[in-house]
Amino acid sequence: MPTNFAYREGRLHCEGVAVESLVAEHGTPLYAYSRRSIVDRLGALDRAFEPLDRLIAYSVKANGNLSILRLLAGEGCGADIVSGGELYRALKAGVRPDRIVFSGVGKTATELDAALNAGILCFNVESEGELRLLAERGRKLGRTAPVSLRINPDIESPTPHAYTRTGHRATKFGIPSEDAPALYRLASELDGVDPVGIDAHIGSQIVEPGPYRQSLLHLLDLVEGLRRQGIELRTLDLGGGFGVAYDAESDPEPSAFADAVVPHLVTSGLRLILEPGRYVVGHAGVLLTRVLYVKRSGGKIFVITDAGMNDLLRPSHYSSYHRVDPARRVEGRGSGRVDVVGPICESGDFLALDREMPVPEPGEVLAIHTTGAYGFSMASTYNARPRPAEVLVEGDRARLIRRREDYEDLVRGEEDLLIE
Ligand SMILES: Cc1ncc(COP(=O)(O)O)c(C=O)c1O
Repeated sequence: MPTNFAYREGRLHCEGVAVESLVAEHGTPLYAYSRRSIVDRLGALDRAFEPLDRLIAYSVKANGNLSILRLLAGEGCGADIVSGGELYRALKAGVRPDRIVFSGVGKTATELDAALNAGILCFNVESEGELRLLAERGRKLGRTAPVSLRINPDIESPTPHAYTRTGHRATKFGIPSEDAPALYRLASELDGVDPVGIDAHIGSQIVEPGPYRQSLLHLLDLVEGLRRQGIELRTLDLGGGFGVAYDAESDPEPSAFADAVVPHLVTSGLRLILEPGRYVVGHAGVLLTRVLYVKRSGGKIFVITDAGMNDLLRPSHYSSYHRVDPARRVEGRGSGRVDVVGPICESGDFLALDREMPVPEPGEVLAIHTTGAYGFSMASTYNARPRPAEVLVEGDRARLIRRREDYEDLVRGEEDLLIE
């Protein structure tokens, strides 16, 4: 079980708080996060790279809750953003603009303008078209945009799902290495942009250090070639993607990643930027859900919960595994092989399939572990279901950090436009 979650007298606790008491106060479905877990994991990752001048730009897409961003900003974190909305969130939470990097393959002129006006640290540019547009917007606003080109290092990242691989040749992401020198020359000639760095992000949920070493060496080769042409870069952004063990038994150590990177960078004079999301917040979260019905049908046992794929998309979208535990252990309970499924009208709506576990009774609460990353941030209102509340636990206190949505939230923006 992830650190900071444990059973005490048969009741599952997040830090010092029984998850049942969170549910009693805030209802279900409910995301609960351990503050300690977030701070500890950020600290461990940062310390592993201590020999280097570095910036951890937390990837907002993993979990963009304002209070979590504020917590991370307070720990010195920057932000990796991929939209104007994430810029808005990061700034609102108090992330320093000079610690924000802007990734993403389809930035609009409006988004570029907002980031230029905010004075962010760097734009991770993914195409010649984006570079030219950014230069144009920079000139228009009388600003010079600091730029890294996101390189596609052509690495088959060993991630568990094809959707989270981004470093191989045939993805929409990044610029082919062979095009990089010409684009850097263009960037150094264009007014409105200034090439300051180089960037790659090879995928998400990577648990081996090898691909990072490969990616780094690839980027360093390019940096050296550019130096010979008189283009001096100052930052190297290795992206995010550091994996977590969803069974929590074999979590990769940050030192394993650092050992693959630090020796090659320490003498380079380059500042390292990392964009971790999942590693920082993944283990910190549980999704708490109540069992509505237990249905035996077609030779199977279906545990039907009040959380569905709209609350937690990962099992359905990525076929991902999440550990499921009862909020309260019941002695002598019989075990069975069950599908834990949601109430959404889709056969793809499940939280766990073919899982051997104590078969719960209706009314009991289950905890779906390691849902702090890409849990709430991928939640939707599909089937007109308001999105869950979020709480942050610190020691024996819990704070609501996002109110549960209600039906009025669902129709906001339509109601006043209702046709006759
Ligand atoms: C450009 C970029 N940086 C960082 C991340 C964060 O990845 P992770 O949460 O796996 O660390 C992503 C995730 O897709 C990304 O696309």
